[in-house]
Amino acid sequence: MKISVQIGDLRTIEVDAICCPTFEGKELDDISKIIDRSTNGQISRLLTLGDHTGKIKQSTILYNSEGITSSRVCLVGLGKLKQLNLESIRQATASALRKIQELGCKTVACFVPEASADQVQALIIGAKLGLYQFNQYQTNTDTETSIEELCLLVNNESERERVEKTVRKAEAIADGTLFARDLTNQPANRLTPTDLANEAQNLAATNDCLECQIFDQVELAKKGFNALLGVAQGGPQEPNLIQLTYKPESPSKTETVVLVGKGITFDSGGLSLKSGTGMMTMKSDMAGAAAVMATLQVISQIRPNLTVIGLIAATENMPSGTAQKPGDVVKSFGGKTIEILNTDAEGRLVLADVLGYAKNFEPKAVVDLATLTGAVVTALGRYAAGIMGTNQQLIDQLIVAGEATHERLWQLPLFDDYDDSIKSDIADVKNIGDGTAGAIIGGAFLKHFVDGYAWAHIDIGGASDYQKGSAYLPKSASGYGVRLLTRFLCDFTTD
Ligand code: BES
Ligand code: MG
Ligand code: ZN
Repeated sequence: MKISVQIGDLRTIEVDAICCPTFEGKELDDISKIIDRSTNGQISRLLTLGDHTGKIKQSTILYNSEGITSSRVCLVGLGKLKQLNLESIRQATASALRKIQELGCKTVACFVPEASADQVQALIIGAKLGLYQFNQYQTNTDTETSIEELCLLVNNESERERVEKTVRKAEAIADGTLFARDLTNQPANRLTPTDLANEAQNLAATNDCLECQIFDQVELAKKGFNALLGVAQGGPQEPNLIQLTYKPESPSKTETVVLVGKGITFDSGGLSLKSGTGMMTMKSDMAGAAAVMATLQVISQIRPNLTVIGLIAATENMPSGTAQKPGDVVKSFGGKTIEILNTDAEGRLVLADVLGYAKNFEPKAVVDLATLTGAVVTALGRYAAGIMGTNQQLIDQLIVAGEATHERLWQLPLFDDYDDSIKSDIADVKNIGDGTAGAIIGGAFLKHFVDGYAWAHIDIGGASDYQKGSAYLPKSASGYGVRLLTRFLCDFTTD
């Protein structure tokens, strides 16, 4: 969908549908007053009758209005005017555009002259994320239509320039989120660790300020990524470590932030095999990797002034005669030994190596994103990801970015007391606890491998995947993390 910014009038623009904002309660705002007059008071009548109430996500179509060139006017419910916020704009835009798309419209216009940059961004995010579909593998989709152009109308050239700038940034963020969704929705037979590495190399090939390095199995063995290799040894797919580097224009003065993503392209559980239903969604166990990779794509376009390194540990977790066994001990990258008592707690193993490796970059902060536990789904459901870490300032910055983007975070405690349950009898640490506080135990385990930098761990087990769709979060992959991390990086400070 192309997004254009034009100087123009909603009443006379030639499009298949125009959007008109409406609010709960009977009052009209400036735009809807103008449209109301051009439709001989139809909007007021609908509001009085109660056929259209302006409730959030409600959309009603008016036809054949004499004073309007477009054949359809879509009344977009935004809820109560006093409670208008960025999230209501995202949800309302998504619902309205979905309805307009279902009608077969190709072009649609909105009037946005007084909208703030954040509001325009919310509109674009709602539009693009709401219209997302993953139908690559359905062969009978040619009858479906999609909206080809969204025109944002403004009053004059200076507004046009201002809105245009916001739109390009918002588009980059939305496209990044959709890229993460596409990667996460790919079945495991279509996206192997090697495919993930190829995606990263493609990104670097098409973006000047991105560099990509792939460490293959041989190099990983040489460098001592034994925990990652242990997870990979059960299956035929070669594991790898993806290192994507973004450098701003004047890198000498800038700080480094490392983003780490869990990239398990399929998690069967290994010998501690999952149930049939338990592994049905496990193609998406690389959602953290997808979010990290997509965030690098976004920042290569909006270019914040800091160095960002994305590290992705990519492998499958499979059972076989060569698979690692409960009771095995491995030595991680940083030298600490791990007793593996459950091969299904594999995410923390691959992250242990990468967190050790991250130290080499002398980062100001390291943030990992991982579909680490089912326990975080039990604790928080899908509307917040769990965050924990070693540096409150870093955690707070991420929480603030989460509020702004509505990719919300909820902090869980990492008291030292939790360490007791992962003490091993024969190694430095074991990879499972006593079955309580599952999400926290995941964090407590990772903390052992963090050395010399501020660290936050985000468990996206619930937030990455939606069983039931809503306005701009359709069923399946949500692309969670791209908007959050982008915002966090753009606002990052250490003082
Ligand atoms: N990838 C899973 C976690 C997961 C499960 C994410 C369901 C999203 C939905 C992870 O590798 C895993 O299997 N974790 C185990 C840990 C346990 C063995 C300590 C879990 O949560 O059951
Ligand atoms: Mg697992
Ligand atoms: Zn997993």
